[in-house]
Amino acid sequence: MRTRPLKVALLGCGVVGSEVARIMTTHADDLTARIGAPVELAGIAVRRPDRVREGIPAELVTTDAMELVKREDVDVVIEVIGGIEPARELITTAFAHGASVVSANKALVAADGAALHAAAERHGADLYYEAAVAGAIPLVRPLRESLAGDKVNRVLGIVNGTTNFILDKMDTSGAGYSEALDEATALGYAEADPTADVEGFDAAAKAAILAGIAFHTRVTIDDVHREGLTEVTASDIASAKRMGCTVKLLAICERAADGASVTARVHPAMIPLSHPLASVREAYNAVFVESDAAGQLMFYGPGAGGSPTASAVLGDLVAVCRNKVAGTTGPGESAYTQLPVSPMGEVVTRYHISLDVADKSGVLAQVATVFAEHGVSIDTVRQQGRPDADGEASLVVVTHRAADAALSSTVEALRGLDTVRGVASIMRVEGE
Ligand code: HSE
Repeated sequence: MRTRPLKVALLGCGVVGSEVARIMTTHADDLTARIGAPVELAGIAVRRPDRVREGIPAELVTTDAMELVKREDVDVVIEVIGGIEPARELITTAFAHGASVVSANKALVAADGAALHAAAERHGADLYYEAAVAGAIPLVRPLRESLAGDKVNRVLGIVNGTTNFILDKMDTSGAGYSEALDEATALGYAEADPTADVEGFDAAAKAAILAGIAFHTRVTIDDVHREGLTEVTASDIASAKRMGCTVKLLAICERAADGASVTARVHPAMIPLSHPLASVREAYNAVFVESDAAGQLMFYGPGAGGSPTASAVLGDLVAVCRNKVAGTTGPGESAYTQLPVSPMGEVVTRYHISLDVADKSGVLAQVATVFAEHGVSIDTVRQQGRPDADGEASLVVVTHRAADAALSSTVEALRGLDTVRGVASIMRVEGE
């Protein structure tokens, strides 16, 4: 057993950071036994030093994060401040001073993971970020290590708890989006500015990270097609129910059938109630992985919150400390396949389209012709009169699998028909 303690600099002492510090203190003996060396906090960088932090030794607190990461006695830097800067500069400075880094920063890794990995490798350091994707749920390490001998073809997940809570509320109570968002805010799930969650930015960052690791290629957040859930209506949810489905905000990363490219996207989609992801309720996350040899795997758990996220951070801390003790580093970036990321237009899936049309003869044939002209095959059609609009009907078309670009042109052409009064909703159908 090495006796010199490994020194850890903690950047950020908010909901996650304070839990990390607490667990490091209360589980010190177990961590020492698991790592093979004692591990202790060298300093905690905060923005507001005057804030009372129960259980945090005041003498460790500093406002100078840069000075802390430059300290030659620091072996590991834990970054839980989030955002691009100053996190990026602090992490690259930590590498330059020989420290390994554990980060929970999905935005930074999804934007600049390749450069960070390169910096880590140059300096013989580790960069681990299990906590960046779906909180406590082990995903990065299973994909990077446990499934390293397999070929992952698809990753399909609910990776944002706030939006899952909102959609679950809409599904169970019939509430509209705004009402469900208000409840999520009141219960502390949604932040005061919920944009990152409801517009899908948070999930898109996670999708980029998962796709890169799963397919051994480089995917950044800019490669991810993103649609949020602000347009999902109570009527979309009701339509999904009629089809035996529910609506989820999904992150979907796929290898193309010919294996020559990948896609990554985030959008609301209907999934059948029989799919395991349909039963993921409230603010929970779950990720479904499909691979050649293992088949189908599902990872489920709390995707956010101080204690669950700290669990993932601590797991990484133990891993990088073990590497330090052994004088080695863990697996770095694996991007050898260099697969291109195809645009959304090339994604092939099924669609549920709801149209408001004139209720007169020939309209169904006209609509069907537009689908046929664009090579989109119809699976089912359901028409029903609209008591609220005389002479109009609702037409719900579910297609077979078609390219997203073909569906977009179909919808554009439908909008041009006099008899189509409006396209009420378009939703992809996944997980079948
Ligand atoms: N805001 C995220 C969520 C957690 O609601 O899942 C942090 O990524």
